[in-house]
Amino acid sequence: MEKLVINGPTRLCGDVDITGAKNAAVAIIPATLLIDGICTLENVPNISDVKMCCSIMQKLGVKIDWLSNHSIRVDTRNISSTIAPYDMTSKFRASYYLLGALLSRCGKAEVGLPGGCNLGARPIDQHIKGFEALGASVTVAQGKISAKANCLIGTSIYLDTVSVGATINVMLASVLADGTTTIDNAAKEPHVVDVANFLNTMGADIRGAGTDIIKINGVKALHGNATYSVVPDQIEAGTFMLAAVASKGDITIKNCITKHLECVTAKLLEIGAHVEDIDGDTLRVWASKRPNKATIKTAPYPGFPTDLQPQMGVVLAIANGTSIINESIWDSRFQYTAELNKMGANITASGKSAVFQGVNELSAAPVYSTDLRAGAALIIAGTIAKGKTEVYNLEHIDRGYEHIEDKFRNLGAKIERVSE
Ligand code: EPZ
Repeated sequence: MEKLVINGPTRLCGDVDITGAKNAAVAIIPATLLIDGICTLENVPNISDVKMCCSIMQKLGVKIDWLSNHSIRVDTRNISSTIAPYDMTSKFRASYYLLGALLSRCGKAEVGLPGGCNLGARPIDQHIKGFEALGASVTVAQGKISAKANCLIGTSIYLDTVSVGATINVMLASVLADGTTTIDNAAKEPHVVDVANFLNTMGADIRGAGTDIIKINGVKALHGNATYSVVPDQIEAGTFMLAAVASKGDITIKNCITKHLECVTAKLLEIGAHVEDIDGDTLRVWASKRPNKATIKTAPYPGFPTDLQPQMGVVLAIANGTSIINESIWDSRFQYTAELNKMGANITASGKSAVFQGVNELSAAPVYSTDLRAGAALIIAGTIAKGKTEVYNLEHIDRGYEHIEDKFRNLGAKIERVSE
């Protein structure tokens, strides 16, 4: 088993390059199934979720070659199966995207129900609602979802809840459908837009991605023979913004899209940090004093991202005064607060809200990450805590962050990955 050993406190200073977005890549790679051809993806994050996604695709007959550390050549000319291996999909939450993609390409799909996770219930009723509205028949039994459709007919779908996954999955299922599909109450996250941009690059006709109404005019086929670069990871960039503030450091975050972080920037300015937007793809974030208290309410984009909630929790744990976080997306995203309390924080979490009584400093302790963003938060906490912190359960963190300890070390953190 591996752990991260971090000796703090350290002020994080320097430059960090942001990698391609996990939540875009894990959708775009399945989306290549809509192409009967070859395409190249660049700026692909080299993380375990992406590697698992590629392994599942290869089991379906897709040829995937890593051309470099961040680019892959995908050949989807020979699909040999429409059944995603259950033992693999149960380890890869976003495997549900294979349903929409295989339905479009082959008219049928069987995928294991997404594994449980530490954020609470992860329903997919809206995905199923969309597939059935397009004319598919969907059954859920023995832990698997099976979908099939002789043909998919464009229609109008109103999503009952704003859902990134359902928006993308319905998009995948309607790109090659007969006629036009409208998705109302659609998610607007940058990775939703990135999937639409990828599909349009390959010949789809999708308009309105990034707004709450997306219109997809079905086309006969997508062409390959094109290269697409995955959007920079908004959440990784936000993680380092919050690390700069928590450590009273000064970090220049390169290769990001500053517009995707406007909500985080606004909140950091509100609590007394400094943020400078350098020509739209670089952010400098610095803080010289203890942050002021704040009230945070997570919300779908462009609101404060739930995937930055734990990292913000570390900042509020050492802020001046009493702060509150209301988590509106997931039922159980405060498990990390128990770990921070082991480090001397004073946080009371109950249901979907948590109260942070700011303390002067955190002290080192052995802590366990419960999900990937909680893991990133505990690394930030270890960086600012006095003494030697050990962070366990790195498999969560490695799902979504590439070489995270190297990036923190390059910013001055005393951090090592150790095998126990
Ligand atoms: C995506 O999950 C992300 N994962 C999550 O990031 C992120 O937290 C979430 O969007 C919200 O931004 C990927 O993109 C792979 P949702 P997703 O469907 O698509 C409810 C990370 O750390 N809902 O937008 O599964 C659901 O319960 C991960 O990178 C339904 O009720 O999330 C939740 O309350 C963690 N029925 C809300 O909608 C459905 O059919 C938003 O979920 C689908 C969702």
